[in-house]
Amino acid sequence: MDKCYKSRFLNINPAEKTFLVHRDAYRDPEVFALEQKKVLHKSWIALAHEAEIAKPGDFITRTVVGKDLVLNRDRNGVVRGFYNSCRHRGAAVCRDRGGNSKSFVCPYHGWVYRDDGVLVSTGSPEADAAFPDGFCDGRTTLLSVPNLQQYAGFYFVNFDPDAQSLESFLGGAADCLQMISEHSAVGMEVISGVHEYEINANYKLLCENSYDGYHLSSVHASYVEYLVETMKGSGMELKPVGAARSFGHGHACFEIAIKAGRAVAQWIPSMGEKVREEVEAKREEVIARVGEERGNVICDTHRNMVIFPNSVINDQQSVLVRSIVPTAYNRMMVRAWTLGPIDESDTLREIRLDNMLSFLGPGGFATPDDVAMLELCQRAYEATDVEWNDFSKGFSAEEITREGAEADLYDELQMRAYWLEWDRMMNA
Ligand code: FES
Ligand SMILES: [Fe+2]
Repeated sequence: MDKCYKSRFLNINPAEKTFLVHRDAYRDPEVFALEQKKVLHKSWIALAHEAEIAKPGDFITRTVVGKDLVLNRDRNGVVRGFYNSCRHRGAAVCRDRGGNSKSFVCPYHGWVYRDDGVLVSTGSPEADAAFPDGFCDGRTTLLSVPNLQQYAGFYFVNFDPDAQSLESFLGGAADCLQMISEHSAVGMEVISGVHEYEINANYKLLCENSYDGYHLSSVHASYVEYLVETMKGSGMELKPVGAARSFGHGHACFEIAIKAGRAVAQWIPSMGEKVREEVEAKREEVIARVGEERGNVICDTHRNMVIFPNSVINDQQSVLVRSIVPTAYNRMMVRAWTLGPIDESDTLREIRLDNMLSFLGPGGFATPDDVAMLELCQRAYEATDVEWNDFSKGFSAEEITREGAEADLYDELQMRAYWLEWDRMMNA
């Protein structure tokens, strides 16, 4: 793109190296209603990890982008995604957050659905007799979501019947998911417990914040000081080296090499001698399994990634997934969960969880400060008449047309990649 581009939401001037986003994208309820249809219901949305439905009969219920869903593994091992609504008069057929069951019984009039979604009873033989013959022979089933696919163990849904495949949607971002699955030779598990909290801000503000290197030194100075303290006397320095990267389709990440310790698998003294052998053995195992170059990337680098439009994956000292549920133009619910190798020792697991909580937990060094900033921005979008946000830091016209563009870690390439895709879908 070497000419100026202007839409309702973007104002890009390559000659002047400016990239502006209109604040209506965060503050207008009508825009939010439109983006549900044009963006959120036409993109692949992260739903769960396969470890959550490992055994036949396992199920979870979840709300994503305004849709209530049941995800389960049926008695034959097939993973299925249903809308959580009875085909009779609509009640949710499953009110538990998760469990193991061979059937779902609607609480209203007692319709019984097998774990493959097929209706097997309308409540009693008398009720069955009052319906047309063959009513329970497979004609009436729970409605399945149009698309359910998994990549590297991460299940995604897409509500657009004409959606492209998940793998082609993920593009270069797929490898970041693959790398997480390679943390362990025996598989990853979802660690029990989830953080759920609400933020009074548009969901895109959290996406932007999640791979924004620019705010680290201003908002998270106390965490940087803490890290320096934990590395004192180790002979190691805290010098992040890295880059921001766009993967196409609006996905992007920043990747940094940093000696801050990783449960997989970079040992530093503050982790303690007790786990040194385990972490070093794990590192050797990873490198032997995937090769030295890739193994070093897995063990030594952190990736903060946004899978467009609402999934955040922080592959840092620990792995945290934030599934963002946009609930209004100015409100979101965050569901944060974490993964670890199945065979991890209790001590290393404790270190992993401590690391996750200390920075990304709801009361950690990062989250409360970040939330305060997001709410400060949202408030100003709604309470002032200023029209445009500025994402020009490090902008070059070339990045718009180049696949896999890279930029300085502290630039705003990641957000521009997001906004270009969002604008494209809104105008489609
Ligand atoms: S609404 Fe489910 S049985 Fe009537
Ligand atoms: Fe932050």
